[in-house]
Amino acid sequence: MGIYSYFVLPWKCLVVISLRLLFLVPAGVPARSGDSFSKDNITVRQGGSAVLRCSVDSKVSRVAWLNRTTILFAGEEKWSLDPRVILLDTVQTEYSIKIENVDLQDEGPYVCSILSDKLPKSTKVHLIVQVPAKIVNISTDITVNEGSNVTLMCLAIGRPDASIIWKHRSSSGVPTSRFITEGEYVEITAITKEQSGVYECMSTNYVSAPDVKIVRVTVNYPPVISRARNSLIGVGQRGMLQCEASAVPLADFEWYKEDRKLLNGPNGVKIENKGKQSMLSFFNVSEEDYGNYTCVAMNTMGITNASIILYGPGMHDMIDINSAVSHLPSYLLLMTLVTAYFLKF
Ligand SMILES: *[C@@H]1O[C@H](CO)[C@@H](O)[C@H](O)[C@H]1NC(C)=O
Ligand SMILES: *[C@@H]1O[C@H](CO)[C@@H](O)[C@H](O)[C@H]1NC(C)=O
Ligand SMILES: *[C@@H]1O[C@H](CO)[C@@H](O)[C@H](O)[C@H]1NC(C)=O
Ligand SMILES: *[C@@H]1O[C@H](CO)[C@@H](O)[C@H](O)[C@H]1NC(C)=O
Ligand SMILES: *[C@@H]1O[C@H](CO)[C@@H](O)[C@H](O)[C@H]1NC(C)=O
Ligand SMILES: *[C@@H]1O[C@H](CO)[C@@H](O)[C@H](O)[C@H]1NC(C)=O
Ligand SMILES: *[C@@H]1O[C@H](CO)[C@@H](O)[C@H](O)[C@H]1NC(C)=O
Repeated sequence: MGIYSYFVLPWKCLVVISLRLLFLVPAGVPARSGDSFSKDNITVRQGGSAVLRCSVDSKVSRVAWLNRTTILFAGEEKWSLDPRVILLDTVQTEYSIKIENVDLQDEGPYVCSILSDKLPKSTKVHLIVQVPAKIVNISTDITVNEGSNVTLMCLAIGRPDASIIWKHRSSSGVPTSRFITEGEYVEITAITKEQSGVYECMSTNYVSAPDVKIVRVTVNYPPVISRARNSLIGVGQRGMLQCEASAVPLADFEWYKEDRKLLNGPNGVKIENKGKQSMLSFFNVSEEDYGNYTCVAMNTMGITNASIILYGPGMHDMIDINSAVSHLPSYLLLMTLVTAYFLKF
């Protein structure tokens, strides 16, 4: 928009009057000839300072800076009430202003208006305000049961608009992050335990370094016994039976021998739970200790059990049956070996 339009459009009468007034005021800048204008846009970060430059010379008799249609400076006289707007020390060839602590509403066209050889001229500089991408609201850490539907949210501001991408790091400590989706929301239907872990939201608009925040998703699931191995311990020796269950929340354990629940006590056993593991320790194994033990793992999501055989030297027959129950493939392997053994002799 040139200064000519002010003379044409009736609603800008006030501006026209202002400008005429301003050209009656001495400019404070030595008049020179030959205008040179910068056509570049000025990009500045919110909170930063913008310098709007305007070149003048000896033929120039009146100068002014306008924000849209409002006069900021007329010559050296400040018309704007905004303390953030200052006139830079005028040199003979330049008539520049500085806007400090730039905010979003400062974005827009600024006009350097010049009267030179009785001809009004103007040049427009577009001030563009950028805002670094910043996450302003993100879902809080959540704990859900396996199978639940989960929606994660990450809201960001930025100018230009921030883009948002999500990555997932599984809770099993896998170091690589996996890209999942783009956008403010992640929807997970029927969440699995593998989908638990850290969800990382990254918002970026290239104005500054990306803003990254995380949401921890905990998925509750019933215990799965991952280790229950039979043990060989000789009479009079010490040793232990071990049971391991993965579960969220962590499993509580109980031990049974046949139908009898075992307790920590004077009968020579000690039950010790440590994280995923439960250990049943014997200080002095006797004949009566041999047999079929059951490790029961439970949490709020469910209960499961596994059998563990405590056997002595020369009691291998006990394990074969147990293997058949809990480890079918190894049982088949064992049977193959046993068959092979008997065929040999
Ligand atoms: C300056 O900014 C305006 C408004 O954003 C845009 O239309 C114009 O293309 C830009 N000009 C240059 C030279 O970047
Ligand atoms: C420019 O004009 C806009 C709209 O009137 C105003 O909000 C803003 O504060 C002004 N900025 C300066 C630096 O004068
Ligand atoms: C974040 O978003 C949630 C859901 O829209 C809303 O309830 C909450 O008040 C927001 N928090 C902040 C700090 O804006
Ligand atoms: C989860 O979402 C699916 C598909 O949108 C729906 O069929 C199912 O009922 C939802 N489950 C729960 C627990 O809300
Ligand atoms: C283990 O128990 C047997 C029989 O009760 C006993 O004779 C033996 O001294 C015990 N051994 C130890 C190391 O306590
Ligand atoms: C072990 O699990 C089976 C089947 O789920 C159940 O019938 C049995 O009672 C359980 N044993 C114990 C000691 O909890
Ligand atoms: C041990 O007990 C479990 C259930 O209590 C049973 O399924 C399994 O066959 C038993 N094992 C042996 C070797 O008796």
